[in-house]
Parts: sequence; C-alpha cells; structure tokens
Amino acid sequence: MLFSNQQISLGLDISDRSIKAVQLKRNIKGKLELQALSQLDLPPTIFEEGEIKDSDGLTQFIIKLITKPQIGSFNTSYVTACLPETKTFIKVIDIPPMPEKEIHNAVKWEAEHHIPIPIEDTYWDWQKIDTPAKNNARLPVLLAVVPKNIVDTYTAAINNAKLTPLALEVEAVPIARSLLPYSNSNPKNTATMIIDMGATRTSLIVVDLNSIQFTVSLPISGRRVTETIARSLKLSEEQAEKAKIICGLDPKKSHGAIGEILHQTIDDLINRIRESIIFYREHFPEGNKIGEILLCGGGSNFKLIDKHLSSSLELPVKKGDPWLNLKPSPPPLKNNELISYTTALGLALRTSLNSSDYSL
Ligand SMILES: Nc1ncnc2c1ncn2[C@@H]1O[C@H](COP(=O)(O)OP(=O)(O)OP(=O)(O)O)[C@@H](O)[C@H]1O
Ligand SMILES: [Mg+2]
Repeated sequence: MLFSNQQISLGLDISDRSIKAVQLKRNIKGKLELQALSQLDLPPTIFEEGEIKDSDGLTQFIIKLITKPQIGSFNTSYVTACLPETKTFIKVIDIPPMPEKEIHNAVKWEAEHHIPIPIEDTYWDWQKIDTPAKNNARLPVLLAVVPKNIVDTYTAAINNAKLTPLALEVEAVPIARSLLPYSNSNPKNTATMIIDMGATRTSLIVVDLNSIQFTVSLPISGRRVTETIARSLKLSEEQAEKAKIICGLDPKKSHGAIGEILHQTIDDLINRIRESIIFYREHFPEGNKIGEILLCGGGSNFKLIDKHLSSSLELPVKKGDPWLNLKPSPPPLKNNELISYTTALGLALRTSLNSSDYSL
C-alpha cells in the first residue's frame, strides 16, 4: 500500500489547510500531459496536526475539489493520496543479508526497535535500497510506518467522496518523484536535500543512492510567519501575507519589524538544515556528500531565499521543477504556482509513469 505500483489515478495532496488534486493523461503521441488540476483551501476546523477532526467536512471539500477543478476535468475515481508528514515515520534500517523470503519478518522484528508505538497498531512497508557494492555485511531497507487510525480515517474520507484509494504514500516519496529525474542508471555520487516549505510545516528530505535516506519535519511554516507579522504589526492576515510576499529577503524592502521576523525565520531554517547535514554525515557514513538543495512548496517563492540559503550553507540551492519528468509537454502554470503542486504531481506520476517516458 505504501510503495506498490498500480493503475492510472489522480494524485490527491491532503494538507491541514489545503487540498490539491492533479490527474495526468497520455496524448495521442503517448506522452504524458495534464488532464486536470485543482486546489481548495480548508478551514481550520477540518484537521488538527494531520488528524482529521471533521471527516464529513473533508469529504465535502474533496467532492468540490474534484467536481470544480481550476483546469480540465477529472475522469477517474482512483486516487493516490499522501499521508501527513508529521504522522508518518520513514527511516533506513539495517538487517543482515538474508534470502528474499525472510526479509519481511526480519524487517518487522527490527522495525519494532525503531518506532514508538506497537507495530500491530500500524501499517508498514519496506523497500530494499541500493548499497555500495563494497559492503556485503548489511542490507539497508527503507521502512515506512503509519498509525492505522490515520490510514483508516483518510481512507474513509476518500471513500465517502465516492473515490477509491489505490495507494497512500508518505509525502517524501511523491515529492522526490516529482523533483528528481527518473532514472534506472547508476546512483549519482552526490546526495540531494529537498526542502518543502509549506503553509503548515517545512519538510526536509535527503535523497541519496537512488532512495530517500531520511526525512525530518520542522516547525517552520508559512502560516506562522504570516501570523507573526500580523500580530507584531497589528495587520490583518491578508495584509501580513501581502507584506511577506512583497518583502521576502530583499534588503531594500525587508527591514524594520518585518525584516526581523523574516530573517529570524530563515536563520532558524538555516540552523536546522546545518544540523541535518551534520546528522546525515554522522549517521549515514556510506552516504554521499550533500551536493545540492532543491526547494519546493509555496514558501520556496520567498524572494531571494535560494541565494540566501546558498551563501549561508555554501551549497548550490535552487527551486525544483515539478514538471521535470513531464517535459516536453508544456507546464499548465508558471513555476511559482506549480511548485505548490509538487506533491500532487508526484502522486499522479506514480501510476502514470512507465519506462518508455524517459531516455534512461
Ligand atoms: N512569494 C511568496 N513568498 C513567501 N511565501 C509564499 C509566497 N508564495 C506563497 N507563499 C507561502 O506558501 C505557503 C503555501 O505553500 P503550499 O501550497 O506549498 O502549502 P501547503 O501544501 O498547503 O501546506 P503544507 O504542505 O505545509 O501542509 C503559504 O504559507 C504562503 O504564504
Ligand atoms: Mg504541501
């Protein structure tokens, strides 16, 4: 359920304060292009930190999302959805090399040492990871674990909208699928860090050796920045949001109280990124050095954030391109809008891709 492969479906990105859907189709030349795209904001009553508080409300919003898209029209009832980053657990664990049929039980046994709740209360899945040929002493696998109540409540809300969930993915998986070139070739010799700056949280993902290696969810969010600006300057949320977008990290505009809030947020982010880079170096000694950072989510539109992060971290930093694996088909929106659909596009790509889409 968390990793397997299935048929065409729409990608449904469910967040605490927004839902987004994307469906892809094949054109007459067999190339993938957009079928439909849609987004709705959610009121604060639907979710609380990834847990559904109003299932019927969520179902109604999903129905509206699918029946009134901004672009095109949805024509499948199959869904690939994502689970909330803060409620999912994804980690590389090591087991001794062993015959294929014994791996599942060994992973279950090992997983129990890594997760804070009984494995019986979770749905879990695993994938083998490419490992440098030199090491035959261990078998690293990527473990994904989600509490059963989260999966069951998400599935119920989707089913009640008369849709059929084919798969639920941990969000880091579709994000990486969207932003990194699909390739069966040998792994690169550098690791990539992806930073998804959303409205409710920032997620940091390290991808190396053709696999996600670790993820961390940071309590830095676009909404919190806007709320802090509104509170400090006694502005409405709309005014504060506008001020945030206009100022960004532009030294000509971002000074005084707003500049302080924005710079403070980015400095916090830089510190957390530094800690994660050190964590990766120390805990994944066979991993490659992090060679670049890709940004996504609406917060990646923050003016000059790429330059600021790049000079502070001394690494190349750029905004990701969620349409990368869909070229040469023209993107339906400008990158600064499409970047918010990175997760939804990655979810839709899961069941749309096949190897003929790429020159490997
Ligand atoms: N130009 C900009 N500068 C700064 N922030 C921006 C800009 N444009 C959008 N944002 C912020 O991006 C956020 C929305 O991003 P996104 O659509 O990725 O969030 P989300 O997916 O709904 O949230 P999450 O994934 O955290 O649950 C908002 O907080 C918004 O203020
Ligand atoms: Mg998001």
